[in-house]
Amino acid sequence: MKLSALLSVVCCAVGLFLALSAAHVESARHTLHAPETMFVFGDSFVDNGNLPRSDLAAESRQWYYPYGISYHKDDGSGRRHNATGRFSDFMVQSDFVAKMLGLPQSPPAFSRAQKRYCHPTGVNFAFGRAAVYHSPEVMITVGEQVDLFESMVKSGTISKNRVTHSVALLAISGNDYKTYYDAGILDLTPVIEGLGNQTVAIVDRLRALGVKRILLNNLHPIGCTPLWSRASKYKECDYIGNKAALQHNKILKQKLGRKKGVLIVDLNTAFGNIIDHGSKSYKQFKNTRKPCCEGYRANNYCGRQAKNYPPLYSLCPDRSQFFFWDDAHPTHAGWETIMKQLEHPIKKFLGIV
Ligand SMILES: *[C@@H]1O[C@H](CO)[C@@H](O)[C@H](O)[C@H]1NC(C)=O
Ligand SMILES: *[C@@H]1O[C@H](CO)[C@@H](O)[C@H](O)[C@H]1NC(C)=O
Repeated sequence: MKLSALLSVVCCAVGLFLALSAAHVESARHTLHAPETMFVFGDSFVDNGNLPRSDLAAESRQWYYPYGISYHKDDGSGRRHNATGRFSDFMVQSDFVAKMLGLPQSPPAFSRAQKRYCHPTGVNFAFGRAAVYHSPEVMITVGEQVDLFESMVKSGTISKNRVTHSVALLAISGNDYKTYYDAGILDLTPVIEGLGNQTVAIVDRLRALGVKRILLNNLHPIGCTPLWSRASKYKECDYIGNKAALQHNKILKQKLGRKKGVLIVDLNTAFGNIIDHGSKSYKQFKNTRKPCCEGYRANNYCGRQAKNYPPLYSLCPDRSQFFFWDDAHPTHAGWETIMKQLEHPIKKFLGIV
């Protein structure tokens, strides 16, 4: 898809108005208040429906049952589940961060925004499967998501004032490593440094565009995701994957140094507290590595079902007992416990009391 085509959907006539009113407000404010606007970049940990809704396939499964199954839509129709393009049974990380800002959920997905309308809560530019580097699976790289944001800022569609008082959430959750892992390359060391450099470059670009506060996820223990731990029948996490994640996080921290306005969101520790230690406080999860929704064989995916045939996946009866929803993503309950652990540092960083 051409970026210019995507852009034309969202660019809006109110841009000029916003720019004018922003200039007025800017002079009156000197200190940053808690953000009301959020810009989201990255992959399926934060995507809320940017990938296209096509016929059911592994790539579009997030638009189909049982995705969104825990979403209780109150439209009086009695329907109880409806997929929203999120890789979860209900909410994802961007929604939980939005809640900390007092918003009901993530700002609208860039691809689904109504014509000529810019939402005051911000824009979610994240696409599932996104990575820093291009690969056949990657529809839009994280850098290209920032290109979209940049054009909207430069055109005035997103006002400078909004950017100043916003927070950016950046989730780069290991899709770059998956490409190498799938190709049978187990030593990820050579990839890690370049990825660290690229991530810091993205942070610098956001800062140069005027974003003053950035939440940057570190890498969760990827070896504990069902995709990697399946080989051990979910008995243990994959050592290579987790080692790579630790190394990634170490390099990321080094390269970021003491950059102002960036908070590393420590997903690695938050996931680890739940998965590794089976800590007593997380007893609700009877299964911390086995996913709730799972294809019967490796080539099947959660949600796979041909019309008039039985499902080719299994679905757990009680989602609140599972930390992982599918091969790679936490359940709503999983995200809730992860973000609960991170709420204090995030709110403190954002000046939310
Ligand atoms: C889900 O919601 C959308 C939009 O409201 C609707 O078009 C679609 O038919 C719904 N799907 C199901 C399975 O209820
Ligand atoms: C990463 O950045 C450092 C410092 O700028 C540079 O020396 C190094 O060659 C870069 N490595 C890669 C793989 O891009």
